[in-house]
Amino acid sequence: MSSHNASHKNQPIERRQFDTLIIGAGGGGLRASLQLAEADLSVAVVSKVFPTRSHTVAAQGGMNAALANVLPDNWHWHMFDTVKGSDYLGDQDAIEYMCRAAPKAVYELEHFGVPFSRLDNGKIYQRAFGGQSQDFGGDQAARTCAAADRTGHAILHSLYQQNIRAKTHFFDEYFAVDLLKDDEGHVLGAVIFNIHDGQIVVIEAKTTLLATGGAGQLYKTTTNALINTGDGLGMAMRAGIPLQDMEFFQFHPTGIAGRGMLITEGARGEGGYLVNGDGERLMERYAPKSKDLASRDVVSRAIAVEVREGRGCGPNKDHVMLKLDHLGEEVIQKRLPGIRQTCITFLGIDPAEAPIPVYPTAHYTMGGIPTNRYGQVVVPVKDTPEEPVQGLYAAGECACVSVHGANRLGGNSLLDILVFGRAAANHIIDYLKENKYHRVIDEKIINKVVENVKRYDLNGKQSNNPSAVPIEKVATLRKELKQVMEDHCSVFRNEEILKEGVEKVEQLVQRMKNVKIDDQSFTFNTAKVEAFELENLMACALATMHCAYARKESRGAHSRTDFTERDDKSWMRHSLYSYENGLDYKPVRTKPMSVESFPPKPRVY
Ligand code: FUM
Repeated sequence: MSSHNASHKNQPIERRQFDTLIIGAGGGGLRASLQLAEADLSVAVVSKVFPTRSHTVAAQGGMNAALANVLPDNWHWHMFDTVKGSDYLGDQDAIEYMCRAAPKAVYELEHFGVPFSRLDNGKIYQRAFGGQSQDFGGDQAARTCAAADRTGHAILHSLYQQNIRAKTHFFDEYFAVDLLKDDEGHVLGAVIFNIHDGQIVVIEAKTTLLATGGAGQLYKTTTNALINTGDGLGMAMRAGIPLQDMEFFQFHPTGIAGRGMLITEGARGEGGYLVNGDGERLMERYAPKSKDLASRDVVSRAIAVEVREGRGCGPNKDHVMLKLDHLGEEVIQKRLPGIRQTCITFLGIDPAEAPIPVYPTAHYTMGGIPTNRYGQVVVPVKDTPEEPVQGLYAAGECACVSVHGANRLGGNSLLDILVFGRAAANHIIDYLKENKYHRVIDEKIINKVVENVKRYDLNGKQSNNPSAVPIEKVATLRKELKQVMEDHCSVFRNEEILKEGVEKVEQLVQRMKNVKIDDQSFTFNTAKVEAFELENLMACALATMHCAYARKESRGAHSRTDFTERDDKSWMRHSLYSYENGLDYKPVRTKPMSVESFPPKPRVY
């Protein structure tokens, strides 16, 4: 059954009002919505997929918190590791806040019903992950709380169930296109459409939280789901908000070679290790102390260098091997059942018997929408680097708080979404005490956004008109974009490669303007959804390439072969990129909340 264009066009636009609109139903969005619903606020969660299909479901290895259930630990060591891991680009006030809040965040989840794996004494199981130390750089810590290797799945399902209990209102399978922002800069909701029937809905909200996840679909080979198209980042850019630190894109060391599926860092936490084509434990050369549990940027570079220098595995010597068989079938089945199944299904390899071919794979967007530690979106205004945008919040991977700086530690992502989802909700609760009523939105603003949402409707018809402008297809442009990002903004970068990358992305952005879609139906028009998603990816690509080209140093995941050193004098600052102002910068917040700052030091593992 398909909706008819004409009848759809004549349908009145639906309008709804909520205290808070949350866009995105992953862990960040659902932690925030739960807090708000429990405070008796009216909260709407809009998700382009059924909530439990959000990408949090794919998080495997766990969530960091200094519980000290297995080895000695405390939040201050966690903070140190995170600052060091960030290559000193992380904001230390936000990092302190996150690491102090971590144990509480885990116990809350336990009480929400998350089935964490257990130690024999009944406490929550914790495994070692990369970049974790005791005593400020001492022995390896074990800080990652895990539910086998399906931790995100367990968390997302528990949060969804809690939200159903708390009566959060869900708009499942609705696509949010653009924010509503008035002339004074207040964000007042968004315009969305129902993917099922194309019906447009205007959501007026006193506060709006973006929790749309990352942009891993920028790259050809990625651990990310198809839904990770940087939608909140694109919406923010179009609303005049710059994106921060987009040059720092994390490559996970162990994606399945050539395919990208994630093999959790927990596999190395359980005792797995990497070997090259000569059968050597390669990480002994690159990180003599931490070896396979060095931070991700270090391990990814090590693998890329082994392959580049001809020590890869396989007929094309284009990957290395992750060896787990020595752990024994019992440990693998108990602690890593998900990745075992992935290997059996997609490779026909049982890791209990044979090693897994792996290569660094695009994994995590460390940059994003600039926020403070209360989740407020912040922008530079005149001489002030960070002024809150009234009514707008962001949390989770789409946000840049910045707790991850230039390189995120594994296990800090689930932590980030839960801590800052909750923090944003708490700030919203206070904000709403002072801002009780909906601001009136000028109808002209709404109409403009609504017209924009309709712009692909019937535009395929125009493709019959003779035109000097070549018609572009979403699938073609998307494929080209992913290849450009893979070729020009990967683990290693240099001037020439980046310059070409900037030019190519600029050209793709221009060509995007000529996209037409053939599917003119209003029933599950995924072609239209994909067009909007590609616009968002283009915005992310533009910011990423420009920031990477401009940053003439190596820091964390941004590794330049022509500027191999970190340059704290010139570059210990956050990048900002917006359509209006191009590149801009702002200082790193080096002052923590209550402890002494960790000054930059050489980063060795
Ligand atoms: O390796 C993993 O399980 C991924 C964890 C993370 O990105 O935090």
